[in-house]
Amino acid sequence: MQAAPTVLIMGPPGAGKGTQAGQLAEAFKLRYVATGDLLRTAVANATSLGVEAKGFMDAGDLVPDELVIALIRELASQLPSDAGLLLDGFPRTREQAVALNDMLHELGRRVDIAIDIQVPSEVLVERLSGRWICSSCQTPYNVNSKPPVKDGVCDRDGCELYQRDDDTEQAVRNRLAVYAQQTKPVANYYLDQKVLVTLDGNQPPDQVRSHLFSAMRSRSS
Ligand code: AP5
Repeated sequence: MQAAPTVLIMGPPGAGKGTQAGQLAEAFKLRYVATGDLLRTAVANATSLGVEAKGFMDAGDLVPDELVIALIRELASQLPSDAGLLLDGFPRTREQAVALNDMLHELGRRVDIAIDIQVPSEVLVERLSGRWICSSCQTPYNVNSKPPVKDGVCDRDGCELYQRDDDTEQAVRNRLAVYAQQTKPVANYYLDQKVLVTLDGNQPPDQVRSHLFSAMRSRSS
């Protein structure tokens, strides 16, 4: 692993990427970038990107490659050379993976580890229908497996919890189909580069985290 590593966290909608990413970023001193969060902020602020992205996101489709690649290119150009990076939700197509490879190459970096969290589809549908998210810090909760102490309120900062517009059953089913068709094959790109680590995400969050941290440490040593 490079001194300033580039780490990807991949997997289907609801696999637990956001749940794991915060602690992973903190423990390994990585700058955390989630394209879904960036796009939702753009939608909330009604920027030109947000206006273009909203319809795709609400339907559970991918936002066009050129928009998302431009977003990541801008971020990468501002990244200090000594900063580690954790990307959540990017790349999601082969075109995005190739563009990321080129961007990192220009910066003298490469993907050090691509962590692919896998969970059966029927578990994902149940997880997403029970998900509530903090409107401020984005911490995910779940009415079934991880309820907040006080209904509708974030344990960490006391802000209000909300449900995402694309967590409706119809949008979730489309997101899973889009994932299977366009994003799952991206794992092969990283398998070929010998940086892919696949984890079983269908176990309690603490166990997933423990396997995730072990995979990171074994790459660091
Ligand atoms: P994005 O925000 O990235 O959504 P996603 O990939 O669909 O993933 P989620 O955030 O839904 O799930 P997660 O894996 O983070 O799960 P979480 O930890 O919350 O993208 C949204 C949209 O933006 C896309 O559909 C697309 O339109 C657009 N977009 C984003 N990036 C793009 C790109 N690169 N290109 C084009 N378009 C892009 O957990 C889910 C629930 O399960 C929570 O309730 C949690 O508490 C619970 N949970 C988590 N882990 C466990 C566990 N181990 N056991 C039990 N419950 C658990």
